[in-house]
Amino acid sequence: MQDPRAILITGASGGIGGALARVYASPGVRLALTGRSADRLSACADDCRASGAEVRTQVLDVVDTRALASWVEAVDRDWPLDLVIANAGITGGLGAGNRSETLADVHRMMSINFGGVCNTLHPVIPSMRRRRRGQLALMSSLAALRGLPYSPAYCASKAALKAYGEALRAWLHPEGIEVTVVLPGFVDTALAGHVAGPKPLQMTAERAARIIRRRLRAGPARIAFPVLLHAGIRLLASLPADMVDRVLGAVKVEIQHYE
Ligand SMILES: NC(=O)c1ccc[n+]([C@@H]2O[C@H](COP(=O)([O-])OP(=O)(O)OC[C@H]3O[C@@H](n4cnc5c(N)ncnc54)[C@H](OP(=O)(O)O)[C@@H]3O)[C@@H](O)[C@H]2O)c1
Repeated sequence: MQDPRAILITGASGGIGGALARVYASPGVRLALTGRSADRLSACADDCRASGAEVRTQVLDVVDTRALASWVEAVDRDWPLDLVIANAGITGGLGAGNRSETLADVHRMMSINFGGVCNTLHPVIPSMRRRRRGQLALMSSLAALRGLPYSPAYCASKAALKAYGEALRAWLHPEGIEVTVVLPGFVDTALAGHVAGPKPLQMTAERAARIIRRRLRAGPARIAFPVLLHAGIRLLASLPADMVDRVLGAVKVEIQHYE
C-alpha cells in the first residue's frame, strides 16, 4: 500500500497520537489533528509543520458527535482522507484503594473510548466507500483480550472497539477500505502515568508510533505489540478463568481517576 498523504488523527495532543502525527509529518503530507488541549495540540502541529507537513487543527471533544462530524466531513472534502486514526481515549479503574467504578465512570469510559471512535469514523465511511479506498485504524489495547480486575470499564471499551473494528473490516474490505485494530501494550504517556503498578515491556510513544506506522502499511486486521506481552495475554485468556483470576488478583495495580 502507498504511504498515506492525507491523515486525520484524534488525540494528537497526547502521547501516542502526538507521536503518530510527528512520525507521519513530512513534506507532501497533510495532517488533520484534534484533541482537547489547545496548547498541546498546537505544540504538536508546530513540530509537524517544522517537519514539512501541512497541518490543520481543531480543539474538539470526541463525544460531541455533531461538531466532530462536521469537522471530519469538512477536512475530507478539502483533503480526501487516506487514513483516519481514531486514537483519543482515557483510562480508568476502581480508583483509590481499588474500591469501585461508579456507573457514571462506566458510561463515561464507553462514551469516550468506544463512542468517540464511532463518532470519528462514521462521518468518513460514506466518502471512502464512494472512492473505494481508504484506511481506518482503531486504537484498542492488549487489555481488550482479557478482562482485568482493576479496570473493568476500560477493558470493556477496548474489547468493544476490537469487535467493532473486526466487523467494520469484514464489511468494508470488499469495498477497498482497510480497517486495522491496534492493540498496544504499555506505552509511557500521561495516560500510563495514572496507572500505578507493574508495566512490563513498557515502550516510548515514539517507538509505539513507529511500529504502528510501519505495520499499517500492509493494512493488517490487527497490530498487537509488544510480541511477548501479546503472547502472554493470549495464553492467560486461554487458561481456566479461576486460575487466571487468582494470578491477576495477586498483582497490585491501582488506577487513579482523572478528567
Ligand atoms: N499508554 C498506554 O499504555 C496505552 C496502551 C494501550 C492503548 N492505549 C490507548 O492509546 C490511546 C492514546 O493514549 P495515550 O497513552 O497517548 O494517552 P494520553 O497521552 O493521555 O493521550 C490521550 C489523548 O486522547 C485525547 N482525549 C481523551 N479524551 C478525549 C475526549 N473526550 N475528546 C477528545 N480527545 C480526548 C487527549 O486529549 P487531551 O489530552 O487534549 O485532553 C489526548 O490527546 C488511548 O485510546 C489509549 O487507551 C494506551
